[in-house]
Amino acid sequence: MTTPPTASASSPLGAAPPVQVDEASGTVLLRTADSAYVLRADRAAGTVRHVHWGDPLPLADAVLLPVWAEHDNSFAGRWDGVEEYPHEGGARFGVPALEVRFADGSSPVEATVQDMALLADDHLVIRLHDRVRPLSWHLHYRVPAGGDMIERWAEFTHTGTGDDGDILLLRHDCAHWPMPRRSGWRLGAVHGGWSAEGRLERSRLAVGETALGSRRGHTSHHANPWVSLDPGDTGEEHGDVWTVALAASGSWRITAQRTAAGRVSVAVGEGHEGTELRLAPGQSHRTAVSLGLHTAHGFGAAGRAFHRHLREHVLPHPRELRPVLYNSWEATSFQVSEDNQIALARHAAELGAELFVLDDGWFGGREDDRSGLGDWTPHPGRFPRGLRPLADEVRRLGMAFGLWVEPEMVNADSELYRRHPDWVLHTPDRAATELRNQLVLDFSRPEVTTWALETLRRLVEEASVDFLKWDFNRSFTEAGARGSGPDARRVHVEHARGLYHVLDQLRSSFPQLRIEACAGGGGRVDPGILHRTDQVWTSDNTDAVDRLTIQHGFSQVYPACVMSAWVTDSPNPLTGRSVPLRFRFHSAMAGVLGLGGDLTRWTAAERAEAAELIRAYKDIRPVVQHGRQFRLLAPEEGPLTAVQYVAEDGDRVVVLVWRPSTGFGPEPPPLRLRGLPPEARYRDEDTGLERSGATLTGFGLPLPALPPGDCASALVRLRRVEPGAGAPVGEPSASAVLPGGPG
Ligand code: DGJ
Repeated sequence: MTTPPTASASSPLGAAPPVQVDEASGTVLLRTADSAYVLRADRAAGTVRHVHWGDPLPLADAVLLPVWAEHDNSFAGRWDGVEEYPHEGGARFGVPALEVRFADGSSPVEATVQDMALLADDHLVIRLHDRVRPLSWHLHYRVPAGGDMIERWAEFTHTGTGDDGDILLLRHDCAHWPMPRRSGWRLGAVHGGWSAEGRLERSRLAVGETALGSRRGHTSHHANPWVSLDPGDTGEEHGDVWTVALAASGSWRITAQRTAAGRVSVAVGEGHEGTELRLAPGQSHRTAVSLGLHTAHGFGAAGRAFHRHLREHVLPHPRELRPVLYNSWEATSFQVSEDNQIALARHAAELGAELFVLDDGWFGGREDDRSGLGDWTPHPGRFPRGLRPLADEVRRLGMAFGLWVEPEMVNADSELYRRHPDWVLHTPDRAATELRNQLVLDFSRPEVTTWALETLRRLVEEASVDFLKWDFNRSFTEAGARGSGPDARRVHVEHARGLYHVLDQLRSSFPQLRIEACAGGGGRVDPGILHRTDQVWTSDNTDAVDRLTIQHGFSQVYPACVMSAWVTDSPNPLTGRSVPLRFRFHSAMAGVLGLGGDLTRWTAAERAEAAELIRAYKDIRPVVQHGRQFRLLAPEEGPLTAVQYVAEDGDRVVVLVWRPSTGFGPEPPPLRLRGLPPEARYRDEDTGLERSGATLTGFGLPLPALPPGDCASALVRLRRVEPGAGAPVGEPSASAVLPGGPG
């Protein structure tokens, strides 16, 4: 083992190095800003066991902590749920992170801990290999500076020669996260479907294995690759939470295990059961990254820690403010033309949009969803002069130009499919299932990704595209196009890697290009895609009331600066619900505001109100997109839903409040704000009223006046003022005075 730096006995916990190793005991302490993760390598037993994940503690104590062992008897998996990376083999009966089949058909693995090494101050690798078979696996741990996140991944290598034959990786998880000892456990996750993403559910974790995942080849609307665990009494702003996530965009599986003995752990990996990967001699496979964090301050703090991590370590352009965009899909559907898009663009520019996005229907022989996908040249009937004239007009109007594409798909009725029918996911003697009349191009094949990259480069250059909305409108079927041998289903993992390759190359060719990820709405939202895109189309459901639920689920892990939200027409085309314009705006202003309605049919009064609301959004945009987010009232909590954002420098506070439906009853209490220093004073920028942080958090913000009836909403903007600056205006009764005296 290497001799990495150890914490000196006198170093304060806060300044401790991120990775500390006690060589004598094999103990490793990972220190994040506010938590500690402890593991111990046992070379004699050939394993690495988990010791602690939670509040910070010093290395001197960590080395003394016992590993939680179960009663040893001939039926016990003594270390089930406690190993850092359990493999099949020996007395192990729990969820394995690593399961293999060697060339002779056998599966048991016998591990040897080779060594532990620091690859950087914040990066530990633990190297293991099979005692006699040609397989090694390395466990990586990284502690990115400043936050509470731990990144983990694994790398497998076939270390043998041709004589050893191939090794099949049956299960190849990124990480297995053991939880500490608690008497009860609750599992939190989101579920849903198309146009119904992000339904948050927290329920008791049952003994056994609870699996979440996707067999669809993409992240999916139906579950999102993260789970939270808490002891059952955690709230939005208090209590322990452990959240783990997967940064990958293909099929996936997260298995939460609770053993009868009460041990809880979470295995996180790409692929699903039967997604096998074959390693030939000399070959390696590196998994995606799994992210994990602990906080003692509730689900709100866990969400903010994820937002911060994604902003600081994942997103390509976290400091940029996302533009207000206009998208033509709900206005013109497939029936796009140069004329109708220019008409929409003129209205959009007048209202204050900064980016105009031409959606589906502009290319090939695309009359509807039955034809044209794959033929990425302008539709000769709709854009006889190509896209340039529209792009130029959009720019003349002062907006950037964006374009919808769906490069991973093809219609059977297309030139591309007629030329390359073999490029789609299919199994030769099976029917190729069409969904939305389209087939999936196999992006695990280099010839396909080369074609995609060349096509997109040409397109971006020719039309001088600033922004791509990158769509993906169906799930995989008959996946395993190459059909060659036992790991044909690796396409469930490798398609997404081909996609990443194309995105990465395209971005490096066009550093100014920005990309919105979309998969029929929120079907591919994850930290992996967010590493190479700038925002995501959250849902095809643009009903402003439904969106509150979707956005609540989304915010558990993903920040407002990637959550694209449009204001569309009323009644909503999907739900038929009529919602006032102001409410529609306030709902969309909680993320990256966009417009998606048929602006040519909006009245002059509606357009004037929209322009005023877009100005208001631009004013609060830095606070919403870059600030800290506090979910004050969740959609299921009662008549009101409310979200608060605090600017990075603490100087501004934005509160959005919605009341989707009204009814007779007691008035809800004031909104107790969060995250404000008690001594600071804040002035309401619209009413001039001043209050202290102590009052706003302790007594609460008196409810802003809401118009009568259903779908009422309000925006409150507070600005921090120097004590005594400006004239406090008519501070009413109880909230006027700080507890303990005037501020
Ligand atoms: C699904 C997307 O989510 C929509 O916004 C739109 O782009 C359509 N696809 C176009 O086919």
